[in-house]
Amino acid sequence: MIVEAIDVHKVYLLGKTEIYALRGVNLSIDRGDFVCIMGPSGAGKSTLLHILGALDTPTKGTVKFMNEILNNKNDRFLARLRREKIGFIFQFFYLIPTLTAKENVMLPLIPIKPRWLERRAEELLELVGLKKRMSHKPKELSAGEQQRVAIARALINNPEVIIADEPTGNLDSDNGRQIIDILSRIVRDENKAVIIATHNMDVAKRTDRIVYLKDGAIVKVDELK
Ligand SMILES: Nc1ncnc2c1ncn2[C@@H]1O[C@H](COP(=O)(O)OP(=O)(O)OP(=O)(O)O)[C@@H](O)[C@H]1O
Ligand SMILES: [Mg+2]
Repeated sequence: MIVEAIDVHKVYLLGKTEIYALRGVNLSIDRGDFVCIMGPSGAGKSTLLHILGALDTPTKGTVKFMNEILNNKNDRFLARLRREKIGFIFQFFYLIPTLTAKENVMLPLIPIKPRWLERRAEELLELVGLKKRMSHKPKELSAGEQQRVAIARALINNPEVIIADEPTGNLDSDNGRQIIDILSRIVRDENKAVIIATHNMDVAKRTDRIVYLKDGAIVKVDELK
């Protein structure tokens, strides 16, 4: 087991109003799992991904990462966990405009600067089909290419799990398909866990398990494999 949510609740306080974003979610993700979270806007998909990725904490319930309970861990511990074990991909890529593709990929580990960093960044850019684009800045890349840089960046720390919030949300269907191809290859060849959120049924169908979220609760799970 890589990450597990046990009866996870999340309540946001907006002024005096309580917003129930998650209401008792149970979910377990293993190595080699390719899981999709689907559901309408506001269902709690991003909230759930943030909690599974140790970017946020539940109001109630438990999150376990590789059998370690994360409740009550301090920010330093969680930051380290994210840096060492988790890769994130977002809808809007979040590349640094002034850095090249390769520098963007290296970025998460620049403070640590392992000696293999440059080579690994090059290998990863090759893996996502961008060998010839390493020195390009984001504005010199297409949207699909930018997202592939973001995937390479998410892999630089050799994470246990890749968490992607609507990774194809800003791409046309061809580019979206390419991104899903790469993610499923990562699941298969590197035996990682990948969790994505999407609105797109064509994307969801390419994963192994679709978890339907509605009003903060899981209403259905489809095993596709
Ligand atoms: N920081 C926050 N403060 C207050 N309410 C929030 C916050 N973040 C999310 N919410 C609320 O929690 C609920 C779930 O939001 P969330 O972003 O997880 O939904 P989502 O399924 O990712 O939606 P979308 O498909 O639009 O991205 C929504 O009602 C949202 O308004
Ligand atoms: Mg969202």
